[in-house]
Amino acid sequence: MACQCLVNAAGYTFLALVGYKLLSVFIRILGPYLLFPGVDLKNKAKGGWAVVTGATDGIGKAYAFELARRGFNIVLVSRTQSKLNDVKKELNEKFSNTEVRTFAFDFARSMTRQDYQPMIDELNKLEVGVLVNNVGMSYDYPESLHKMEGGLDRVTDITVINTLPVTLLTAALLPQMVDRHAGIVVNLSSASANYPMALWAVYSSTKKYVQWLSEILRREYANKGITIQTISPMLVCSNMSKVKRSSFFTPNATSFARSAVSTIGKTDDTSGYMSHQIQVEIMGLLPSFVRDYLINSMSTGTRAAALKKKAREAKNE
Ligand SMILES: NC(=O)c1ccc[n+]([C@@H]2O[C@H](COP(=O)([O-])OP(=O)(O)OC[C@H]3O[C@@H](n4cnc5c(N)ncnc54)[C@H](OP(=O)(O)O)[C@@H]3O)[C@@H](O)[C@H]2O)c1
Repeated sequence: MACQCLVNAAGYTFLALVGYKLLSVFIRILGPYLLFPGVDLKNKAKGGWAVVTGATDGIGKAYAFELARRGFNIVLVSRTQSKLNDVKKELNEKFSNTEVRTFAFDFARSMTRQDYQPMIDELNKLEVGVLVNNVGMSYDYPESLHKMEGGLDRVTDITVINTLPVTLLTAALLPQMVDRHAGIVVNLSSASANYPMALWAVYSSTKKYVQWLSEILRREYANKGITIQTISPMLVCSNMSKVKRSSFFTPNATSFARSAVSTIGKTDDTSGYMSHQIQVEIMGLLPSFVRDYLINSMSTGTRAAALKKKAREAKNE
């Protein structure tokens, strides 16, 4: 009898745990994208300016447009002044009341605090309500570390670009946010950080750094009124992803940014897009050996196609 009671208790506990897990999955998929009420971003930010790094293309540019649409003045930070001027012009044409400033800065060639100081000084003259740490760099194609396209230079650039700007700019702008007891920091990681991805060592690890940094900062600034959000997307159409045509699972950057911005204040950690969150949750439910197998197959397939293309191009030269 006692034995039967124990079996029943174990059964109910198991069912409760499975139920809890499934409910959490549904809340993460539906909550920020369909269920939770909208948040007043201006009120959360309490600063009229939004700074976006890597803002001349892809997701960063789309964040800049979405934040301008929501009434923020924008600082665009990127490497190429001519591209910054073009994006500024586009923003001014679309949002005539938005003030736009640009800052040309090469994050790959800037390694010290002294390099950053002029930009930090300029940014701190403004009331920065939102900081979007978006700039990032990836591989040309998946490859093992010692054979990476671009060699040690590329290894250095990815490591620096994916970790230093997010750390330094956040540290430099937090003081004014702490003083105002408000502010929003959005850090662009990647779903590749959710699992140790073979053939993406530097990218996956540096994006894990972004997730970890954001998670720790949330603990440090929990009672300071500051929102620190991690966004870890799957594939989005952009130069980096090399995907041109959007689909249900691969949105264009504009749709992605609109969705991701709408999750600020609703969740601290998400992929940014509902169909991405479905993929993330399915991957999370798989046993790790199945997940590793799928990721490895995809990466080796992509590498084989890239190497074939490279060989074809070399032959045609
Ligand atoms: N696209 C995806 O599928 C995907 C998926 C997961 C995560 N993410 C993350 O999302 C972020 C944006 O990705 P994306 O696909 O939009 O990238 P993207 O299209 O390649 O755009 C990169 C932006 O960063 C700027 N940039 C690149 N190197 C720079 C440097 N050294 N100094 C200053 N600016 C530099 C580029 O400006 P210039 O043109 O002037 O160089 C451009 O504005 C990244 O952090 C990425 O890791 C993307």
